Amino acid sequence: MTSDERVTASGLAAMKARGEKVTMVTAYDFSSAILAERAGIDVVLVGDSLGMVVLGYSSTLPVTMDEMIHHTRAAARGIKRALLVGDMPFMSYHAGEEAAVLNAGRFLKEAGAHAVKLEGGRTMCPLVRRMTACGIPVMGHIGLTPQSINLVGGFRLQATTSHAAEALLEDALALQEAGAFAVVLELVPVEVAGLVSRRLSAPTIGIGSGPECDGQVLVFHDLLGLYECFVPRHTKQYARLGETAITALSQYRDEVRAGRFPSDEHSRRLKADEWAALRARVGEK
Ligand code: KIV
Repeated sequence: MTSDERVTASGLAAMKARGEKVTMVTAYDFSSAILAERAGIDVVLVGDSLGMVVLGYSSTLPVTMDEMIHHTRAAARGIKRALLVGDMPFMSYHAGEEAAVLNAGRFLKEAGAHAVKLEGGRTMCPLVRRMTACGIPVMGHIGLTPQSINLVGGFRLQATTSHAAEALLEDALALQEAGAFAVVLELVPVEVAGLVSRRLSAPTIGIGSGPECDGQVLVFHDLLGLYECFVPRHTKQYARLGETAITALSQYRDEVRAGRFPSDEHSRRLKADEWAALRARVGEK
């Protein structure tokens, strides 16, 4: 793929066939989408993780469709080449097929996304089939599914027994068969992720699932060191922008308090004759 060619849902399988790794990162607004674009990231996910890293909720569960649409629209304005995927929030696809398809459609129709992502394995296949038939590309998400956190009981490694790993493989194959163009594997052991990746023609996108996946995804704020409330073990902080930001903000505070900011460099002055005329008009010495 040339560097300015648009990334498409079907193009990701071609990347896998060519042995090219898929790069994916979350972004939740215009400027973060531009940064991801400029870095040449293939897939930008407006993840429901925005509930935690942007909106300050303690889980992804409270995120609404309207919040997702709002942030996806902002990100879409910064996207040129990448595939933009909108994450379907908790309860937007669980209470009936009609509502689910309409909500998925909103991501494409109102927000400018190219595809949606939803969590769940075989039970989601009828929905994946229906959405795909409507022209909505669907990315699956299995392994740890944060929207089921109350059921699974914590952010821990999944598919750790041969039985559970086989069930995960069956989920992945079923999603692919239903039309999913890629499958996120979250927090599964390296061997299991490798096995699933080898058995699927659709690419697997790993998070906390080791190097044998066909691609990787990280949360923008984790990757850049912007969210310190919870740093998962599988995250690599490629920068510590949070610390850099605090240093800059403190420097700004000090300079304002000391009267050093703004200096002449950051200020605009009236022309001398206008200033003289103004002083004369208002009686200022
Ligand atoms: O919401 C999100 O950011 C995600 C990724 C971690 C895959 O679902």
